[in-house]
Amino acid sequence: MNEKKTRTGAAAPLSGRPDRLDWHGRRLGKKLRPGQKELLEKSLPDIRVTAQNPDPHFLSTMPNTPKQVWLEIGFGGGEHLAVQARAHPDIGFIGCEPFVNGVAKLMGAIHENELKNIRICDDDARPLLDAMVENSIDRSFILYSDPWPKKRHHKRRFIVKENLDRLARVLKDGAELCFASDHMDFVEWTLQHLLDHPSFQWQAQTASDWRNPPKDWVPTRYEEKALARGERPAYLLFTRLPRDT
Ligand SMILES: C[S@@+](CC[C@H](N)C(=O)[O-])C[C@H]1O[C@@H](n2cnc3c(N)ncnc32)[C@H](O)[C@@H]1O
Repeated sequence: MNEKKTRTGAAAPLSGRPDRLDWHGRRLGKKLRPGQKELLEKSLPDIRVTAQNPDPHFLSTMPNTPKQVWLEIGFGGGEHLAVQARAHPDIGFIGCEPFVNGVAKLMGAIHENELKNIRICDDDARPLLDAMVENSIDRSFILYSDPWPKKRHHKRRFIVKENLDRLARVLKDGAELCFASDHMDFVEWTLQHLLDHPSFQWQAQTASDWRNPPKDWVPTRYEEKALARGERPAYLLFTRLPRDT
């Protein structure tokens, strides 16, 4: 662990480090159980991808080259990622999440379900995105990303021009970006940023396209919490436009 923790458990911003970007989320929550610690120490290294070693090496555990590669940024406890990976064993998945307890939870699901097609970046997604092969991802998910509701914190939101540039670089032509949130100000912000970005096109034709989840939708933990509160999330799907030839 290479950052200080504050009293609230939030990671101290990593500003001033030439090799790291500012990141303001939590790294650690409740104490990990011994079984979780063991999975992190013994099994995570076999499926870890990092900015220094971004190649997912899917063939080390999958029988064939994955048909496609899907990426989830900020997977939380990995509930969505694990369900998708079970449903699509021929697709390779890369999940990014710096919150150690969330990574431990996903490691538990990988172990229990013997999932062979997941790779984990237990760190900020941004340096990984910069290190990944261009034009290599078929589908991406950013689900219930931290909305940072205070105006002075808006610049911490993951949806900013620099991160959309990063994503646009790694997404294949025609790849899909799936975004969902129950925070309407953040939804509007996201829509505006994506509409302003030259590499993305919004897929919606009618209001029901963003008001209702798409057919194969797998709800995340945050989505279930939002629905239980009676809130109505928005589902924004974008296509990565073809690069100029
Ligand atoms: C509000 S939670 C939602 C978790 C999950 N997607 C869900 O819907 O249940 C947002 C997650 O994004 C992660 N996150 C924030 N910034 C990130 C970044 N730069 N790279 C990777 N994950 C990030 C946080 O650690 C947090 O777990």
